[in-house]
Amino acid sequence: MYLGIDLGTSAVKTVLVDDAQRVVASRSHALTIDVPQPGWAEQDPAAWIAAVFATLDALKIDHAGALAAVDGIGLSGQMHGPVLLGADMTPLRPCILWNDGRSAAECAVLEQRWPALRRITGNKAMPGFAAPKLVWINEHEPEIFAATRLVLLPKAYVRLVLSGEAIEDVSDASGSLWLDVARRDWSDDGLAATGLSRVQMPRLVEGCAPAGRLRNDLAERWGMTRRPLIAGGAGDNPAGAVGIGAIQPGATFITLGTSGAVITPTEAVTANPGRVVHTFCHAIPAMWLQAGAMLSAASCLAWIARLLGASEAELLAPLGARPAAPSQVSFLPYLAGERTPHDDPNARGLLDGLSHATDRNAVVQAVLEGVAFALADCRDALTDTGLVISAADAIGGGSRSDLWLAILANVLNIPIHRLAEGETGAAFGAARLARLAVTGEAVASVCTAPARTATFLPDAALAAAYAERQPRWRQLYRPR
Ligand code: XUL
Repeated sequence: MYLGIDLGTSAVKTVLVDDAQRVVASRSHALTIDVPQPGWAEQDPAAWIAAVFATLDALKIDHAGALAAVDGIGLSGQMHGPVLLGADMTPLRPCILWNDGRSAAECAVLEQRWPALRRITGNKAMPGFAAPKLVWINEHEPEIFAATRLVLLPKAYVRLVLSGEAIEDVSDASGSLWLDVARRDWSDDGLAATGLSRVQMPRLVEGCAPAGRLRNDLAERWGMTRRPLIAGGAGDNPAGAVGIGAIQPGATFITLGTSGAVITPTEAVTANPGRVVHTFCHAIPAMWLQAGAMLSAASCLAWIARLLGASEAELLAPLGARPAAPSQVSFLPYLAGERTPHDDPNARGLLDGLSHATDRNAVVQAVLEGVAFALADCRDALTDTGLVISAADAIGGGSRSDLWLAILANVLNIPIHRLAEGETGAAFGAARLARLAVTGEAVASVCTAPARTATFLPDAALAAAYAERQPRWRQLYRPR
């Protein structure tokens, strides 16, 4: 039996997976985001720990027998947010999250100080990533910077609490801008450019390697008599890739969660930082991920539902399963700024083309289309490096909507597959990494793909209508 714990942004989700890879039980605990200033986003690491403990305490109530049989725990988590620990190994301040835009100026400083940054990290310096946040803290909170003894990413902090060990996996570490992604090791030059050194960083492992053991007292608390091994784990996107078996070159998938992304596994680094393509080490050895990343995807639908005072299901129901034509309204989904392709934390959303005839359906359809157009931009940034994307699997909450996947298939003009639910997601991928760490099985035998339950094919006329609309949609974006 294996446990996968995903420290998301809106919730912690913990799944229990049996030896036949069936999800036996799953519990989640909601998290909130603090917004001290517009464009900023923080969370208290203590709230993560409370949420992780709450999911495990809840599982203990009715799955005590299964917990007693757990051999391994895999961790996955939101990427990019540094947790700064003082000499007593407690956090010195809240974590500045992946969607916090405060450190844009510090990105330029960092690229100037370390001209090899893009070549070594495979990424452009962007405010979401960890390193520029440390430059910001050094400038605005020098006493906290000076007191920092250890820098951990979110799920590595959870590991520290669970096991007492400071260990990071290479996939999550790629979101820091301190990693030499080709060598899968910290870059001393990168750390020095931020005023840090290796001494302040955790030891690195591969995602499927052993990385600590559950503390005795916690094993007793949850009745885990086998004192499970903890695997290296992964950032949420690489863990999601493991969960759906996206371990082969070209196995492109699209995530429609709070954030969105188009992600392709590769056998080598094929970076394109100039077009804001993200390069991450994969959670399995000798593979990488190239990603176009959006900051707001399914959260755009949640936003319009809030605004219109209706549930998402109520908004989608009257629209049916397939659009007849593009909406007359256009929507820019940059509600929290955008990464690919603009790298602009100050970008904002927009509704264009409103008239007296505009009804709720037109606006809701436009929101779904705006996210699809932005995902097409991500796809184009990836194919610009020579990658070929001829179909994609869709995962995440938004992939439950037939209409959204039909729009996506037509806007991207490729087949989009929906994967079987229940056995996907970052927490499930993390549980698979735990199994690999415990058993040492071959990656391909564990990381299989779930069944495709539906395929959405582009329709020639509709795809042409969206292709005609796209240049107009692109022109709506202006740097502010
Ligand atoms: C990836 C990214 C998000 C976060 C939060 O670059 O910023 O996917 O990991 O989920």
